[in-house]
Amino acid sequence: MQIELRILRFDPERDQKPHEESYKVEASPMDRVLDLLHKVKYEQDGTLTFRRSCAHGVCGSDAMLINGRNRLACKIRVDQLKGKRITVAPLPGLPVTKDLVVDMDSFFAKFRSVQPYLQPGDPDPERERRQAAEDRAKFDDTTKCILCAACTTSCPSFWAQPSYVGPAAIVNAHRFIFDSRDDAAEARLEILADSDGVWRCRTIFNCTDACPRGIHITQAILEVSSKIVEHHA
Ligand code: SF4
Ligand code: F3S
Ligand code: FES
Repeated sequence: MQIELRILRFDPERDQKPHEESYKVEASPMDRVLDLLHKVKYEQDGTLTFRRSCAHGVCGSDAMLINGRNRLACKIRVDQLKGKRITVAPLPGLPVTKDLVVDMDSFFAKFRSVQPYLQPGDPDPERERRQAAEDRAKFDDTTKCILCAACTTSCPSFWAQPSYVGPAAIVNAHRFIFDSRDDAAEARLEILADSDGVWRCRTIFNCTDACPRGIHITQAILEVSSKIVEHHA
């Protein structure tokens, strides 16, 4: 079948503002949007710029706005989008570097701000740090994050206040706050109790809907908020 791909293009060296360009591509229902972008790039316009690496939903580099929703181009298939026209635009709320590539520096700075690494309070043991299965289960969901930014850039609170730390950073803080082997939960809770922390969340759920890993993001945010309340009680 023939699909019309309408892509929001922007070249900072040539364009004053973004504009849509239309490409016709032959596609099968099982093609992913990433396959169609490759067809455009390799067969029609080599200047089209987008990020991708694994092509299998693992690296998180090809999140973009597809038919009005943030998704991974390598995970969404033509048959899931229903229709012969597909719109593709860069993730909202971040500065566009070129075409579908956004500047992720501020996103990763927020990720780093929550200290997303294990900080045990005791000296290194001879062997591994053991953990009970029920303790591991407390953060199992939030270990699945691939840092694609689909959540943060679909959040209206983030659009309204770009200094909001955002759901992705909170998910990654949750992963360590609830890890029984870690001893730096207090420091992370202090960071997230800030005016740009968890209280900016209005439980809008766009983040949860957008997450390609199916992480229960809003629930994780609420668990961190409750922990902050407990911590200050
Ligand atoms: Fe992407 Fe989900 Fe991680 Fe957000 S929580 S960055 S949507 S994988
Ligand atoms: Fe935003 Fe998700 Fe909260 S969309 S407001 S972070 S529930
Ligand atoms: Fe790696 Fe899509 S290219 S997640």
